[in-house]
Amino acid sequence: MSRPRLAFTDPDYWLDGIEETYGWLRANEPVAWAEDGQFHVLAKHADVLRVSRENTIFRSGRGVLVRDEMRRGTMPGAPSIIYMDPPQHARHRRIVSRGFTPRMVAELEPRVRQTVRATLAAIPANEEVDFVDLLAAPVPIAVIAQMLGVPESDWEPFRRWSDALIEGADTGASETSMASVAELWAYFSTQITARREHPLEDVLSALACAEIDGEHLTNDELVIFILTLLVAGNETTRSLLSGSARAFAEHPLQWSRLREDHTLVPGAVEECLRWTTPIKNFARTATRNTEIHGVPIPEGGYVVMLYASANRDEEAFGATANCFDIGRLTEPGHLAFGFGEHVCLGGSLARMETRVVFEEMLARFASMELAAEPERIASTLVNGMVRLPLILRES
Ligand code: HEM
Repeated sequence: MSRPRLAFTDPDYWLDGIEETYGWLRANEPVAWAEDGQFHVLAKHADVLRVSRENTIFRSGRGVLVRDEMRRGTMPGAPSIIYMDPPQHARHRRIVSRGFTPRMVAELEPRVRQTVRATLAAIPANEEVDFVDLLAAPVPIAVIAQMLGVPESDWEPFRRWSDALIEGADTGASETSMASVAELWAYFSTQITARREHPLEDVLSALACAEIDGEHLTNDELVIFILTLLVAGNETTRSLLSGSARAFAEHPLQWSRLREDHTLVPGAVEECLRWTTPIKNFARTATRNTEIHGVPIPEGGYVVMLYASANRDEEAFGATANCFDIGRLTEPGHLAFGFGEHVCLGGSLARMETRVVFEEMLARFASMELAAEPERIASTLVNGMVRLPLILRES
């Protein structure tokens, strides 16, 4: 194979042959210049790990997306945590992480299980269904809404807001996404004020009231954070759930293995994260002249970490890196949640949710098969599906 065409800024580019491109880059040009985006892409696990770790050299404040308006410094308003650098990032993260303690995640589990059971009960067996529409999309939305403490009567706009926001990652702020933000802003400003006056047992109250050294987040900072949660937690978990179901449909022996031995479930969740890598990449900007893998990166240089490629790196995962194997040893870790100071805040929530979905599906379904070719999302960011036609076979 000769050097593939690199066109990472085109959402359609990622749909066909991207795995071959990753393989070629890892073998031949692990730090490659992509002319269309004016950035370097990193294809190897070790390089992605290093850049994620070295947060004094590689910063997030000048953009994290392949197509990021922050590169031109044009994003209005207070930044999301995802764009913060030290020391602001650590202060903000300390406060918001109070909503994501292991105890809070564990306390949510019974309600998540109830939601998953009810959702699965409504899915017919032995006939074609759209797994995205019936399970992968509604479950994460319900979980985030429950976590925040939003009453069920207000859940409907969540999917619309989240979809509009994620679209904005490729198209920039559109009229629809701006209208969604305005609706969200109004809704949560009211909720935050109410929680400050009368705290409840929910994450919204924990966030609204959390203080560190006498500081707490302002209303605007909190709404931006909630907006980040909707974007960061919905589409990603949706993609993990649908990507996992597809993987099991395509590798039926792995599902049978899981049915025989439920102790494999946590490892299966990790392998599904590695295999599907719902977020394809995030980027950083170099704060000084440096080098990666011997390639000079100038101050101000933009580097895109190709998580999906790093997660199939033979040097990290051995000769079976391209096999879906739920019994794989978990070292080294996959990079589906990123690494370092920005490592995914919702990782334990997404893991718990996916484990519960697997456990409940194992209790009912002997196997699953693809009923038609899945329809994938054209996106530079999310590795997801619009539709996953599946037939779930009952035991
Ligand atoms: C399978 C599901 C998920 C995947 C693959 C995923 C992936 C990621 C990745 C790769 C990052 C790193 C960003 C960076 O380094 O710039 C990140 C950050 C983040 N994620 Fe997730 N995520 C998932 C689920 C969630 C959930 C469920 C939530 C919350 C409800 C969430 C909230 C966040 C937040 C707030 C950050 C920013 C953390 C920071 O900048 O300090 N994510 N996620």
